[in-house]
Amino acid sequence: MKKILIINGPNLNLLGNREKKFYGDTTLENIKSLCDQHCKKNNIECSFFQSNHEGELIEKIHSVDTDFDGIIINPAAFTHTSIALLDALRATTKPKIEIHISNIYAREDYRRKSLTSESVNGIICGFGENGYVLAIDAIKNLIYSETQ
Ligand code: DQA
Repeated sequence: MKKILIINGPNLNLLGNREKKFYGDTTLENIKSLCDQHCKKNNIECSFFQSNHEGELIEKIHSVDTDFDGIIINPAAFTHTSIALLDALRATTKPKIEIHISNIYAREDYRRKSLTSESVNGIICGFGENGYVLAIDAIKNLIYSETQ
């Protein structure tokens, strides 16, 4: 069975209470269940992780090449600031998708630049929690097209 890692960066543990105008009512726990269900339907094993600490996110990314077939990451605010996360993602040879709940290109200027996106196969943003489902479909396609 293929295995994917879904990583969530800082403040995403506050979903449900945080800036509902951009992120809606859904909690990270709801998103985890959505991902678990969709992965199950697609016969994929899914590991879900959140941290507010850059180093922990980096160490988790380091485990991708040995432990997973692909990664979906919402780097949250580190998207716009972290060359360290970019470098960790670049070092990973497995398929990678960046996701954002909100449309970062329709928000403040400082959110319109993603440092991390340079390292990923593609980005999904602006579709709310459903973006995670779209990202699972996309990573599945990438994983299977790379192993054929
Ligand atoms: C976010 C967008 C980022 O700009 C922001 O810092 C977040 C969440 C999103 O999912 O829309 O924390 O990644």
